[in-house]
Amino acid sequence: MSNDHERRRQDHGWEVLLAAGIIWVAIDVPWELKFGAHELAVGKVVSTLVTLLFAADFWIRWRHLFSRRRRAAPTAAPRESLWWLLVDLPGVIPIALFGGPVGWLSLRLMKLPRLNQMMRQWRKRDVHNASLLRLIFFVFWMLLIAHWIACGWAYLRDPMPDDDDPMYYLRALYWTITTLATVGYGDITPQTAPQMMYAIMTMLFGVGLFGYGIGNVAHMLANIDQVQAHYHTSLDRLANFLRYRKIPVGLQRRIYDYYTFLWERHLGYDEAIILSELPEPLRIEIAVAMKREFIEKVPLFRGASPLLLREIAVELRAALFTPGDYIFRAGEIGRHMYFISRGTVEVVGEDGQTILSTLTDGAFFGEIALLFQCPRTASIRAIDFCDMYSFDKDSFERVLEFFPEFAAFVREEAERRKLALKL
Ligand code: CMP
Repeated sequence: MSNDHERRRQDHGWEVLLAAGIIWVAIDVPWELKFGAHELAVGKVVSTLVTLLFAADFWIRWRHLFSRRRRAAPTAAPRESLWWLLVDLPGVIPIALFGGPVGWLSLRLMKLPRLNQMMRQWRKRDVHNASLLRLIFFVFWMLLIAHWIACGWAYLRDPMPDDDDPMYYLRALYWTITTLATVGYGDITPQTAPQMMYAIMTMLFGVGLFGYGIGNVAHMLANIDQVQAHYHTSLDRLANFLRYRKIPVGLQRRIYDYYTFLWERHLGYDEAIILSELPEPLRIEIAVAMKREFIEKVPLFRGASPLLLREIAVELRAALFTPGDYIFRAGEIGRHMYFISRGTVEVVGEDGQTILSTLTDGAFFGEIALLFQCPRTASIRAIDFCDMYSFDKDSFERVLEFFPEFAAFVREEAERRKLALKL
């Protein structure tokens, strides 16, 4: 599994490197087409490195396509076909070295769909930040297109008398941005027919881009609101139900408190329901990941083997309690044992008055009734909002059976508590 993880990380690193190469090409090609090959050594070095990168990528894909050991190639290659290899081919030819015509460079832009494909994959993989990534990629494409349009404008228009290349480009970019953003100061205006046609197309494109941009941002905000809206809808439904059932106001208040707590700590998600919908291997992994922080907090689990931790993570069920809740009362039949993840409870004696103990984060309770098949020896009352995990009787017995060290520790603590209770 860690091998798999390592391989995915390497693939991701390779993807990022490749994406950087393609981005360089996307920026560099229009520039070179207009302003000619780089004079600075840095530009030449980067161009050569990118060619090498593309060649390595081509080789990997070639091997992936024609080798039986498909696992050897990065998963970065999403759709392997001869077509994609052909698309990659121009990128590998070191045009600058051969002194080939600069126009050939534009063939390298054929790699751009690959960049788009990678961005889509990243968005799919990083579900959590999908909306944000969408916005970032949108801004990236927008800036890239502005750069292309600026190079095109520079191509159509002669430079001002004193302009060097960077100033010439800057002027073109300034015109592009003011036109695309529909600001249009009018200090640089098209003079010839081709310039006018170009300006019209840029303006139309700018209007479309503007609309699409606003739509994108609105979509992202709507996504954030969706979670809030879900919360309010569930609360409305609950309020209607409670009114319809004529539930006493005090109890209603506690139910609302519970919902607010569930919302604040868990964004309204019920772990158990979400986990129950997943296939088992994934469920186990997620259970371990979600409960690791809690498990590390419980002294009882410290030093436990990875196997025991896995078993515990799978068997533990989340439970929430609000202040004043009785988790159970003395004399009841015991069906669960609890661990406190966050919060504080009081152990209340059989008389309902005496506070025997106060338990907080990492402590456990409810083991006596399960171990000794007796009624609950005390009541447990939550004194603030409590996030807990519980074992049911079967899980508890299974864990005791397979992990004697854990059993011994729980028994020892139970005996100590029974002594304190004078049982
Ligand atoms: P059980 O008898 O199942 O239910 C009540 C629980 O309170 C009991 O298990 C113990 O886990 C816990 N308990 C009882 N006495 C004490 C004590 N003195 N200190 C801490 N916890 C206690």
